[in-house]
Amino acid sequence: MSNGLRRKLTSYGDQGFSLFLRKAFIKAMGYSDDALDRPIVGIANTYSDFNPCHGNVPQLIEATKRGVMLTGAMPMVFPTISIHESFASPTSMYLRNLMAMETEEMIRAQPMDAVVLIGGCDKTLPAQIMAAASSEIPAIFLPTGPMAVGHHKGERLGACTDCRRFWGRFRAGEIDDAEIAEVNNKLASSIGTCTVMGTASTMANLTEVMGLCLPRAGSAPAVESERVRLAEETGRVAARLAMDEAAPTVRAILTPQAIRNGLVALQAMGGSTNAVVHLAAINGRLGLRLDMAELDRLGRSIPLLVDLQPSGQHYMEQFHEAGGVPALLKAVRHEIDGSAPTVYGRTIGEIIDDVVDEPGQTIIRTVEKPLKPIGTIAVLHGNLAPRGAVIKQSAASKELLQHIGRAVVFDSVEDMTLRIDSDDLDVHADDVLVLRNAGPKGAPGMPEAGYLPIPRKLARLGVKDMVRISDARMSGTAFGTIILHIAPEAADGGPLAIVRTGDRIRLDVEGRRIDLDIDQAEFDRRMLDVVNRPPAPSRGYAKLYQERVLQADEGADFDFLQSEELDAR
Ligand code: FES
Repeated sequence: MSNGLRRKLTSYGDQGFSLFLRKAFIKAMGYSDDALDRPIVGIANTYSDFNPCHGNVPQLIEATKRGVMLTGAMPMVFPTISIHESFASPTSMYLRNLMAMETEEMIRAQPMDAVVLIGGCDKTLPAQIMAAASSEIPAIFLPTGPMAVGHHKGERLGACTDCRRFWGRFRAGEIDDAEIAEVNNKLASSIGTCTVMGTASTMANLTEVMGLCLPRAGSAPAVESERVRLAEETGRVAARLAMDEAAPTVRAILTPQAIRNGLVALQAMGGSTNAVVHLAAINGRLGLRLDMAELDRLGRSIPLLVDLQPSGQHYMEQFHEAGGVPALLKAVRHEIDGSAPTVYGRTIGEIIDDVVDEPGQTIIRTVEKPLKPIGTIAVLHGNLAPRGAVIKQSAASKELLQHIGRAVVFDSVEDMTLRIDSDDLDVHADDVLVLRNAGPKGAPGMPEAGYLPIPRKLARLGVKDMVRISDARMSGTAFGTIILHIAPEAADGGPLAIVRTGDRIRLDVEGRRIDLDIDQAEFDRRMLDVVNRPPAPSRGYAKLYQERVLQADEGADFDFLQSEELDAR
């Protein structure tokens, strides 16, 4: 027998002794021989006191274990890294690859026939999908689910679009210290992930779209009993995967059709730009390149259908009540490949066929009557972004989508922090704010600094949005006319490095262009002076990160973690 506890024996040069020793040690936990002879389902525990988005993980683990045992397999819980957005310095993105490596190696090193990966906060599901795509055993995912909305003076509050909205009002002097403190108490009113269509909700929904978790597991609220029942059912499916030697791996589920279905949903749901980076990284693990041209084409043909913040008005619990991902897929059925497989054995087309419309719901619109006539994300190129950039046009100001403005340049996140609120800053509402050296290498860790705050002197005048461009990312919960992920980044020799305050920048979202408006000879002359990349740190993970991280268009993964098949293409 080569499965269960007999898998992946520790190397002592004597296989019989390896198993004997393993069983001797594990019996210290009180397991019987019957239990130890069962197929094993590993369950990745990402609970952490530093991660409130995973606050329900202990309950989900218990329910998952119940489902595994009711189906006749043996659950084994093991810890992995857990990352919360607000508790990761310098950035959570800096640690995503570390979590992906650690999770992959723990799956590989320990004896399990299938694995349940429980994640939720922004970087955790992407890291876990990257890990599972690189490992050889079947995996099923269990998102932790979105938190409940809060309330303040008759308004609903949801992290974290409303965090930014209220902080902007506080900066502008519209609300005082007492009110911002009151809002701070109410923004995250329960455990669970941010309740708008931010990165966590986007990635959970895409996990469902791509067939890696159960139907409705992408959106069921963190604190409702449905989430716990989904955990039990996830355990049952995982046990069946563990017992089936022909069960599909994540690589078998994530076909090019499944990935394209994900791009369709991303455009229709108002998903986070961060998903583009994560999908690029996941593609790299599969030996594929993310098809940015197809993403952009879908953005022209698929309008925004989901009325959730930050592109719309509502929150994940309303999306779930309206039918969630299956209802969304039904609304874009004409673009979905229904033959795409799922980890639970049905096709995506069969899931769509089962959808019963929720009478009267207005959260998930139809293609004929969309929320906005444009898709969520546009892919830009131009002399400032030779390898591309993105804009979340659904959450941008329509009047700024075609714009020419004077550049106001910040050389780093620190420079921006020091100067943005100075009354001496020479800045006007129609300028273009430029932030550089905030990409994967430059920051490092590609922080969500692309949402440059409106300079305080302009905020006081009521300016709510400006064109902002950078090689950074932005939170999926943010709103604004913001160009992100410029590749290559300034610290890797990208042309963002040559922009000077006072230059003119031309944004043409309809034409999919972002350009520095100077003559070519001057452009070329300045590029000769660009110094590549900052000095590498001398040790540890920081050194590994700086030396091996890829650019945004390749998912900001490490080069050595991509599939070897990618090099062969
Ligand atoms: Fe965890 Fe938003 S901070 S999902």
